Amino acid sequence: IIVFVVVVGHRWTRQVESMAYFPSNAVILGEAIASEEKDMVLPSHDFSGQALIPSQHKYLEMYRRSIEDPAGFWSDIALSELYWKKKWGDEVYSENLHVNQGNIKIQWFKGGITNMCYNCLDRNIHAGLGNKIALYWESNEPGFDSHLTYSHLLHRVCQLANYLKSIGVRKGDAVVVYLPMLLELPISMLACARIGVLHSVVFAGFSSDSLAQRIVDCKPKVVITCNVVKRGPKTIHLKDIVDAALIESAKDGVSIDVCLTYDNQSTLKRESTKWQEGRDIWWQDVVPTYPTTCEVEWVDAEDPLFLLYTSGSTGRPKGVVHTTGGYMVYTATTFKYGFDYKESDVYWYWCTADCGWITGHSYVTYGPMLNGATVVVYEGAPNYPDSGRCWDIVDKYKVTIFYTAPTLYVTSYSRKSLRVLGSAGEPINPSAWRCPISDTWWQTETGGIMITPLPGAWPQKPGSATFPFFGVQPVIVDENGNEIDGECSGYLCVKGSWPGAFRTLYGDHERYETTYFRPFPGYYFTGDGCSRDKDGYYWLTGRVDDVINVSGHRIGTAEVESALVSHPQCAEAAVVGVEHEVKGQGIYAFVTIVEGVSYSEQLRKSLVLAVRNQIGAFAAPDKIHWAPALPKTRSGKIMRRILRKIAARQFDELGDTSTLAESGVVDQLIALAGS
Ligand code: WT7
Repeated sequence: IIVFVVVVGHRWTRQVESMAYFPSNAVILGEAIASEEKDMVLPSHDFSGQALIPSQHKYLEMYRRSIEDPAGFWSDIALSELYWKKKWGDEVYSENLHVNQGNIKIQWFKGGITNMCYNCLDRNIHAGLGNKIALYWESNEPGFDSHLTYSHLLHRVCQLANYLKSIGVRKGDAVVVYLPMLLELPISMLACARIGVLHSVVFAGFSSDSLAQRIVDCKPKVVITCNVVKRGPKTIHLKDIVDAALIESAKDGVSIDVCLTYDNQSTLKRESTKWQEGRDIWWQDVVPTYPTTCEVEWVDAEDPLFLLYTSGSTGRPKGVVHTTGGYMVYTATTFKYGFDYKESDVYWYWCTADCGWITGHSYVTYGPMLNGATVVVYEGAPNYPDSGRCWDIVDKYKVTIFYTAPTLYVTSYSRKSLRVLGSAGEPINPSAWRCPISDTWWQTETGGIMITPLPGAWPQKPGSATFPFFGVQPVIVDENGNEIDGECSGYLCVKGSWPGAFRTLYGDHERYETTYFRPFPGYYFTGDGCSRDKDGYYWLTGRVDDVINVSGHRIGTAEVESALVSHPQCAEAAVVGVEHEVKGQGIYAFVTIVEGVSYSEQLRKSLVLAVRNQIGAFAAPDKIHWAPALPKTRSGKIMRRILRKIAARQFDELGDTSTLAESGVVDQLIALAGS
């Protein structure tokens, strides 16, 4: 078995070293060969020998072609690996990435007619994979599981697609899916894709306010949810959250005809779920009564496949729109090469991401299904009932490719290290940990992996995402937008387009242009800082805007601030990210309270609660720092640079404070830092 671990979401840090204690029965093929160069890890011969891209030479050859001849490179893949009802027109792609030259426009395979669901299911079944397991589902409670073969999955998808059609959902409509990691989540995505309907999956950890906001923005015909879900020891009544959201969205003039509710717990009496007759329908009462075959809605490659909201540095969340053809080709290809996936039963794959985020879209549902892979879907929390759960799942399903956020290792560390000690007598040589770990950099907007060490091809440097994927041209620019060569650091941009690029923000093409293409004309701006070393390796250094990344969940500081100031006793708030041992980044809030109110633990709790209610528990601040006042410039702009230093306790590195309107503010904040 080749265990291959891929890291997503944030930088590979020293924490990942705990991977040294990989469970003993998951044999890591090929130990890292210590290189002469410090911190450089060569791929093992065993791994490289069997890898799709076995050498730097092969990578460079393919990469060069993908840049010199993108049309040829991508159309060869699109035609040989995927089904097209009709081939695209003369142009494989067209792009305008210059704001000064009219609207930003990216198109791939325009005129090509295809269908994502057909390519994920029917095509694989026709190729003989009908009886192969497509999805394994592992419940929150150990011991409960189920699975679906590719054929069974297609049946389920068709039944739901038929039901949606029967209630009048048509091509181009939107459906909001607010579900935990049940099989019904990928089923819902694929059913929408089958009939040309856009899905908008909302992570089930979002609060009713956030859900309402997204419903108002995309005006879905239907909301799909479930009554309850268990996450760890907690039972969450999802339907109640949806009810509250639907009351909110109705106030903004958006009402929903149907709320399709999956009955997720047989022990819970249906009567105990609040019900609005006429609007609310139990999934189990209707969906299974529909036929298990459903005609495919053939769509243009540039027809939208889904929208997914993500946080920006300002304002409302942005509805990132991905279209069908390019996204399909890109996720299929990045999954195949990025994970070194070969069609064979020994590759069982688990991605711990939730389908509520882009990682779940591209690497739980679409990428793996397009490759005919067997995927594990896990409902619950990684540390339930104890910190060994993840490795138990890896053992149980004989997972060979494991894609996860680096944060997970820490929680699963202690118990498993003991187990390995117990069974093998000693921990695996620490030099073994690095070899099969791959660090992937990408974003909701990019659709798929952009910078990653192709396993087997490159010597790795822990902490570096290494080199660009095929077709991707990262560039580093200075603050004037000039491209800088060689060893340097600056702002990470991308030159040219790639098939998986997002095409617009839902209903707001102008914001798409100003956010991503205006800062550095001619390039897509990622929002990340980056450096490149003398060997050409890329090192991501974090967001340069006011976006923070908590355990792989992207959160805009502006959203947290607006939740805080909605609290009647909060006068002003400024939120920054701080380094966090487990989560990558933590949320650190400076709060000024209204006059006459005194600070208390109770007030702190109710401020945190305001954020939980308005965004979701995952966005709750880790720290509230009472601030008699915030450091501002004379023009009233909050100096976040200083706040970040105070949050990081780097009091000696505050830099130039001469532009502060009131110089005493900083000292006050430092004095209160301990409390
Ligand atoms: C932001 C995108 C990874 C896709 C899922 C999250 C940060 C992502 C890395 C990495 C350092 C990373 C960036 C990026 N990020 N991967 N390997 N090393 N930082 O997608 O929610 O859109 O977040 O995550 O800051 O901009 P997302």
